[in-house]
Amino acid sequence: MDALVIKNLSLAFRMYDGGLSRRYLKVISNMNITVREGEILAVAGASGSGKSLLAHAILGVLPKNAVLDGEMRWFGETLTPALQKKLRGRELALVPQSVTYLDPLMRVGRQVSRDERTVAELFDRYHLKSDAARLYPHELSGGMTRRILISAALAGGPKIVIADEPTPGLSLHLAEHAMKHFREMADAGAAVLLITHDLGLAVRFADRIAVFYAGTAVETAGARDFADEKLLRHPYSRALWRAMPQNSFTPTPGTQPYAGSLPAGCLYAPRCAMRTPECEAAPPASREVRGGEVSCLYAS
Ligand SMILES: Nc1ncnc2c1ncn2[C@@H]1O[C@H](COP(=O)(O)OP(=O)(O)O)[C@@H](O)[C@H]1O
Ligand code: SF4
Ligand SMILES: [Mg+2]
Repeated sequence: MDALVIKNLSLAFRMYDGGLSRRYLKVISNMNITVREGEILAVAGASGSGKSLLAHAILGVLPKNAVLDGEMRWFGETLTPALQKKLRGRELALVPQSVTYLDPLMRVGRQVSRDERTVAELFDRYHLKSDAARLYPHELSGGMTRRILISAALAGGPKIVIADEPTPGLSLHLAEHAMKHFREMADAGAAVLLITHDLGLAVRFADRIAVFYAGTAVETAGARDFADEKLLRHPYSRALWRAMPQNSFTPTPGTQPYAGSLPAGCLYAPRCAMRTPECEAAPPASREVRGGEVSCLYAS
C-alpha cells in the first residue's frame, strides 16, 4: 500500500526585501513522489535540491514564511497540520542527521522512551548495553549516538520513517550498519524515506531511488536501474551516475539553478546537452517510462 503520496507539491518562501515589498522564493516545484509500505525510497540529489525541505514539509515543521501548495496523503488521508502534529514523533518519525537533536542534560534512555520495557527491547535490538540508558549524550561514541537516534525514532512504532542524511561523518562500516537498520525497519513493514547524497549507498540498500534537482524529482526508478547508466531515463540521473567514484567520476559542467532564478521550462535545460527550444518553453510533465517516473520530454 502507498504510505505517503506527494502530488504536485510546491513550496515557496515569502521574502520581505524591506518596506512593504514582498517576493516569493520557489524552492520546490511540481514535486511527485510515493513511498510504499515495506520499502526504502532513497532521495538523492545535490546540496540545495530541496531534500530537507521536503522532509520538513512532510513532518509539518516548516518555517512560518513557507507557502505550501499541492497534495500530501498519509495512507490515503490528507496530511493536515493537525494530523502531522498527532503523528509526529510517533507513527511519523524522523531520524535526524545531527546529535544536537538529543537533550544534552537528559539521560539517553529517557529520551528514547519513557517506557523502560521499550527502552530495554530497543537497546537489545541495537546492541546497546542496558546500562547505556543511564549515560548522557556527550558520553556516547558516534556509533552509539547513531543507534540511540534510531532507537528513539523507532520507539513510537512508526509507519513512516524519514532519515535525513543519516550517514555523513560515519565510517563506511558504520554507514553500512545504519543502512542495515533502515533495511530492517522496511522489512518489518515501515515505509522508509531515506535522504542521502551518497548514491552508491542508496543503490545498495534502497528499493527505489528518486533523483532531486533544483526542488523537483526528475526521475524515480528501481534501485537496480541505477547500477547501469543505460537503464536511466533522465540526463541528470545519468550525470549523477557518472559522477560516482566507482564510475568515471566525471563532473557535469554548470551548477544547479538558484531558487531565485529558476528557468521557465525544464529546470535542467541550461546544463542539458539534449535540450531543444521546446524544453525551455514549459516544465516537462512527469510520465511513466519503463516502469519508472521521469520528467524529460525525450526520455525513452
Ligand atoms: N528558510 C528558508 N528560507 C529561504 N530559503 C531556504 C530556506 N530553507 C532552505 N532554503 C533554500 O531552499 C533550497 C533547498 O534547501 P534544502 O531542502 O535544505 O536542500 P538539501 O537538503 O537538498 O541540501 C536551498 O536553496 C536553500 O537555500
Ligand atoms: S526536457 Fe529537455 S532539457 Fe530537460 S532533461 Fe529532457 S532533454 Fe534535457
Ligand atoms: Mg539537507
